[in-house]
Amino acid sequence: MAIKRYIFLFPSLLLLIGSCGSPEQPEKVTFAKDIAPLVYKNCTGCHRAGEAGPFPLISYQDVASRSKLIKFVTKTRFMPPWPADATYTHFIDEKVLTPDEIALITKWVDEGCVIGDSSKIPVPPVFPAGSQLGTPDLVIKFRDVYKIKGDAKDHFLLMRVPYQIPEDKYISTIEVVPGNRKLLHHVNAQLLSYEFDKRKDVMGGNVVVDINDYPNTLDAYKALSLPNDDGTFPMLTQSITNYLPGVTPPLYPPGIGGFKMPRKGAIFLKDIHYGPSRVDTSDQTTFNVFYASTPPKRPTQEFQMGTYGVSPIVPALIIPPDTVMKFTSQYTVPFDISILTVNPHMHLLGKNFWAYAVTLQGDTIPMIRINKWDFRWQYFYTYKKMLKIPRGATIHVEAVYDNTRNNPNNPFNPPRVVAERDGSMRTSDEMMQFIVTYLPYQDGDENVSLERK
Ligand code: HEC
Repeated sequence: MAIKRYIFLFPSLLLLIGSCGSPEQPEKVTFAKDIAPLVYKNCTGCHRAGEAGPFPLISYQDVASRSKLIKFVTKTRFMPPWPADATYTHFIDEKVLTPDEIALITKWVDEGCVIGDSSKIPVPPVFPAGSQLGTPDLVIKFRDVYKIKGDAKDHFLLMRVPYQIPEDKYISTIEVVPGNRKLLHHVNAQLLSYEFDKRKDVMGGNVVVDINDYPNTLDAYKALSLPNDDGTFPMLTQSITNYLPGVTPPLYPPGIGGFKMPRKGAIFLKDIHYGPSRVDTSDQTTFNVFYASTPPKRPTQEFQMGTYGVSPIVPALIIPPDTVMKFTSQYTVPFDISILTVNPHMHLLGKNFWAYAVTLQGDTIPMIRINKWDFRWQYFYTYKKMLKIPRGATIHVEAVYDNTRNNPNNPFNPPRVVAERDGSMRTSDEMMQFIVTYLPYQDGDENVSLERK
């Protein structure tokens, strides 16, 4: 899909690549005073070595040499990528340029990229290498490099990533760092906890199987060497981390969320999806583990609406060709909850997504609105403060899909019927999901800040 988009953009890019001189003109917009702080705050986190952005945006040279393209991508709001509507609800780490900031960048480029007083260029932010969060306490990686066949097919796998550490630890979060950012599409991770004497060699055995080779899940688990030595299964902790492009894992205040990681265990990837490649290549993804100072006092809980969820999709998610169609889902909250994080999920035909709650008194609580769905940026959005949804309120989700030729991401041309096929996560099938991470409400939750320190 990224390739397709490039084909659309490419002719215009050729015209846009160009650089500026840097005449010294005071009173003008300058890199030192105006532009560097904007770039450091909104761009450099991704545009630096080892992160998702295709080139660094740190020095004057980095930015000035791509100035025309930067003017274009900021004006069109293609960059920074932030699909949620920031006029509707706010989240931590929000990366959105204001209209004034966009105008400032445009002016700077039009005026010839003035550098200004170069001694006043602020010091670029220091980011931890290989992480969005900080320096991990422990790094676990795939035991073996995974070889991806150049057969132009999607690969859906189960993987076991075994580890051994000196003692049990409490974990606040785990960050997935893809080894192959181009092909790694998503990861859902769980934790297997082995009792010390029940499995002698936790590092040994098979570590990867292809889901399609095993119609029977239990057979797949055995082929993946999951069981203890006596054939029983170890304890499983659900949903310890997720990866989708653009996702930074939640890191909640001390005591909220988190889990215990035993000294002998395995991160169980159920599942891991690589997109198609035409050449043989490989991946060795790593997991940055951050320890918690305290045991989890309030473990987080999760429900999802829509696909596999607590509430059905109405009508059933079947999108006829050449239609733009809306689907809804509604769920009434059985007790007061405090929402930490939400994650809207659709595939390539997604057009827009809207979630809000309506209380028994008829008040509307805005949750999230995405006016222009972008398949590549599926963040887990964490509220700045916990969002209380009272008992009896109904959460409404409305999702619109565009199955016409006008949708440049449509996987089929001419368009075909696209539906939610049983259990399939293939990108050419559809899903409609709203994943909600919450705690049972406690007095004062709505004042608890979730900003990362
Ligand atoms: C969340 C990570 C992230 C942030 C933040 C971000 N970028 Fe990007 N940027 C990317 C990725 C990934 C690409 C590759 C685009 C693709 O393939 O879709 C990209 C591509 C670009 C391109 C090339 C566009 C093209 O089509 O070739 C430019 C220019 C750019 N970014 C500028 C910026 C600027 C300016 C900012 C800040 C105002 C910014 N980016 C913020 C991740 C990011």
